Amino acid sequence: SLSFGARDKAQHRHDKEYNLVLEDEIEFIKSLPLKGTRKKTKKKKKKKEEDSESSSSSDDDEEEEEEEEEEEEDVMKAPDNSKMSIQEVRRSLPVFPFRDSLLAAIRDHQVLIVEGETGSGKTTQIPQYLYEAGYCDDGKKVGCTQPRRVAAMSVASRVAQEMGKKLGNEVGYSIRFEDCTSERTRIKYMTDGMLMREFLVDPSLEGYSVIIVDEAHERTLHTDILFGLLKDVARFRPDLKLLVSSATLDSEKFSDFFDEAPVFRIPGRRYPVHIYYTRSPEANYIEAAAVTVLQIHITQRLGDVLVFLTGQEEIEACQEILTERVKALGSKIRELIVLPIYANLPSEMQAKIFEATPPGARKVVLATNIAETSLTIDGIVYVIDPGYAKQNYFNARSGMESLVVVPISRASANQRAGRAGRVGPGKCFRLYTKWAFENEMEENTVPEIQRVNLGNVVLQLKSLGIGDLINFDYLDPPPAETLILAMEQLYALKALNHKGELTLTGRKMAELPVDPMMGRMILAAGEFGVVEEVLTLAAMLSVNGAIFYRPKDKAIHADTARKNFFHPDGDHLTLMNVYNEWAGTEYSSQWCYEVFVQYRSMKRARDIRDQLAGLMERVEIQLSTNPADSMAIRKAITAGYFYHVARFSKGGMYKTAKKGQTVMMHPQSCLCEDLPRWVVYHELVLTTKEYMRNVVVIDGKWLLEVAPHYYRDNEVQDNTSKKMPKVKGKAKEELTKEYADPVS
Ligand code: CDP
Ligand code: MG
Repeated sequence: SLSFGARDKAQHRHDKEYNLVLEDEIEFIKSLPLKGTRKKTKKKKKKKEEDSESSSSSDDDEEEEEEEEEEEEDVMKAPDNSKMSIQEVRRSLPVFPFRDSLLAAIRDHQVLIVEGETGSGKTTQIPQYLYEAGYCDDGKKVGCTQPRRVAAMSVASRVAQEMGKKLGNEVGYSIRFEDCTSERTRIKYMTDGMLMREFLVDPSLEGYSVIIVDEAHERTLHTDILFGLLKDVARFRPDLKLLVSSATLDSEKFSDFFDEAPVFRIPGRRYPVHIYYTRSPEANYIEAAAVTVLQIHITQRLGDVLVFLTGQEEIEACQEILTERVKALGSKIRELIVLPIYANLPSEMQAKIFEATPPGARKVVLATNIAETSLTIDGIVYVIDPGYAKQNYFNARSGMESLVVVPISRASANQRAGRAGRVGPGKCFRLYTKWAFENEMEENTVPEIQRVNLGNVVLQLKSLGIGDLINFDYLDPPPAETLILAMEQLYALKALNHKGELTLTGRKMAELPVDPMMGRMILAAGEFGVVEEVLTLAAMLSVNGAIFYRPKDKAIHADTARKNFFHPDGDHLTLMNVYNEWAGTEYSSQWCYEVFVQYRSMKRARDIRDQLAGLMERVEIQLSTNPADSMAIRKAITAGYFYHVARFSKGGMYKTAKKGQTVMMHPQSCLCEDLPRWVVYHELVLTTKEYMRNVVVIDGKWLLEVAPHYYRDNEVQDNTSKKMPKVKGKAKEELTKEYADPVS
């Protein structure tokens, strides 16, 4: 648990230096009822002797430890890493004094659990220690898994720099659709999903001398499955070393799982972090976060700020608010450097968050959950935590999976707060009430394996020859009904036969680095003669980042440009239009700029497309093409996504075909104006309602053709492909008003 630091008098003295606060800005700041800071702002002009009184207003301040104050003032100055050489920085990390004892423990034990605070140097240093100790001498690799793509890339690039090597040579990374390694690579960072894929090619991981399962506390689906697979490999490969590294207190659990493997604890450096709560819940946490940043910037001493948001859209929204307000304040405030970090941010921009803040300026990092434990940003003194994260949730009963913004757990909240206490005492501003923290938040985050669709993992385990999935060695088992549903789904997709064994189709699906539905769609495209087209839209759907952008000041132009791509049969074909037109310009960036399309996303789509196309030979599919045959394309989509069928109901609403759940058309869909009767959606996004994102028009009859084992005649009776009457009046209003701002 966190220690609550004392509010020091020095802080108040320091605050007084900032008399730049504008009157209206104070008003504006006051509107956010943050405990502590708000009081301080109010009382700012009062006499010094009253200062001690003001601090008693915060619940947590009451037991102040006076003697800490002096010390606190000293350590408040963040250590200046910028003057240290990179090797000095390495030696300054908490793990460094334990280098030799750690190596000795690894030598003496096959499996070792390593526990240490975020920022101790586990991820960047341990693979280097192993390399230096000769674990790579016979050409073998040290593999280190990361739950997140961004972390794998950024850590690899940092380590390459520390070792003075070019990224992709001795040190490399491998993430889905992007392999930055070579035959020279000895230290390989990769996503946990990629290591799982390597099992398919090399089930005993012969190329590795050590595997580090890093950030194990994150408990992602792939990490959890890797535990079972690696435990097994370790049994028949006594020369393989296995390290499980974790930032939190789950070590005992990992140790139990790995037959009482010893735990190596790296003592952390952690300074007290003072926690503030809001008095009442914040309706708009993005706005509140921006306000808090400015409040900190104006009233608090220097030190960088880390804000946790749920995704790219929120980060961009917050960045926009901040940029506007900072501009309005002009030269009255110090320099504020606002930097985003999220999975789809290009790597050269990701690297910026690690650059030292110029003297006199303040850095604000707007981050997704990635900064909770995967990435350590030096110099953070203030954390702003709105208390939310985006998660995948799968409802086995309805068979629906969607991306949801959910409250984080207390464990997460404490991790986030901890980010403020790395360089000195820090402050964490929680944009929720203390009551909510104590009563509404769960103790721990539910491991992914217990809340997501398991189709992909079941397919991979089946192709590894693991027949009995119920009795697989899980750290925490998935719910039986989710497993059964995944098997049923794979059966319906023809990946498994009625005995639950992998079919030839299933084997091919497992070869493709996409989920089973997309895999099936691609294979079906072979049957319908539209492989080129379906690969294009598969790539466009796999990009993750936004395809279109919509600058506020050019919103109308951007909307018009987007509408020009609209295809009457739906968003998939609209995306295909965008790609094909772009390809027609020889992949021009200027063209993207002119039509408000994100060049970066398009480049990535091209990359993914090339890779998928390169795999077609392996799965014995010819690269057929027929761009004009919208029906064939949509039938192929339906063959993969027949689980995602919805039928028009009433009032602008749809019901899913099998379970009758209410879903809505996403406001960004090109089908919004003219709602068709039957649709297939790519995914669901939950905000106030379930929204279907990326939707395509189908004919109900096709379901009997492409998924006869799943749909019965009477379920697709209403099988006219005629369009619905245009949505007008109330229904239309209903459709457009709700989603003021859907999550994505
Ligand atoms: O894995 P763990 O949280 O224990 O620490 P780490 O990620 O190895 O980070 C150790 C140090 O390397 C921290 O001080 C980071 O700020 C620094 N680092 C960096 O400067 N650039 C990166 N891309 C990653 C880490
Ligand atoms: Mg780490």
